[in-house]
Amino acid sequence: MKNYDNVFIFNHPLIKHKISILRYKKTGMKEFRELIEEITAVMTYESMRDIDLIPVRVETPLEVTTQYRVPEESVVIVPILRAGLGMVNGVHKVFPTAKVGHIGMYRDEETLEPCEYYCKLPDGIENRTVFLVDPMLATGGSACDALDALKKRGCKKIKFMAIIGAPEGVARVAEAHPDVTVYLSTLDRELNGNGYILPGLGDAGDRLFGTK
Ligand code: PRP
Ligand code: URA
Repeated sequence: MKNYDNVFIFNHPLIKHKISILRYKKTGMKEFRELIEEITAVMTYESMRDIDLIPVRVETPLEVTTQYRVPEESVVIVPILRAGLGMVNGVHKVFPTAKVGHIGMYRDEETLEPCEYYCKLPDGIENRTVFLVDPMLATGGSACDALDALKKRGCKKIKFMAIIGAPEGVARVAEAHPDVTVYLSTLDRELNGNGYILPGLGDAGDRLFGTK
């Protein structure tokens, strides 16, 4: 895959370790969900690296000092339903005050094209940094449509976090949305004929929620 300036791929031993367990077909629902949260929490530190801070006055036991905080209202998490829900707690672990919007997309199993079925976002979204989250970036259709939907509603600063991406999907999002930084914990080999990522982890939604 070509190098994209707006794609950041994690190359951290701890993430590799956790992803190997996530992929294993016998890893159960509880452990799968916990791993998704833990990986997301680590990714959130990096994806918030350039977030704006505001100065605040803090009294320590010894003196008054100027320190820096992320304004509580400035961050919104938007999971793509339904598998994206699995990543919300991971962001909340490290930034608990983030509000949450929701975008519902499903992939048509025949055409693999995404369909939007729900969208509810917090007020003032146009002035916040939006963290769009979905564990799987396969053809990129769902992510591109969700990004279009957010931009149509006024979002200007958007980051997209996915756990596993296929080269096809990463290229599609990176090229269609050069203003969006994509954070990926790992880049897989390819898509199969049914649009599943190889080696992948199977259907993330089903494994998170026990629906198969
Ligand atoms: C999965 C996944 C992404 C999408 C990725 O969701 O969570 O949203 O597929 O595929 P794409 O890049 O080819 O669009 P799915 O549509 O299976 O719905 P679910 O989250 O309800 O399981
Ligand atoms: N959605 C998933 O859950 N898994 C894939 O491999 C591709 C899309």
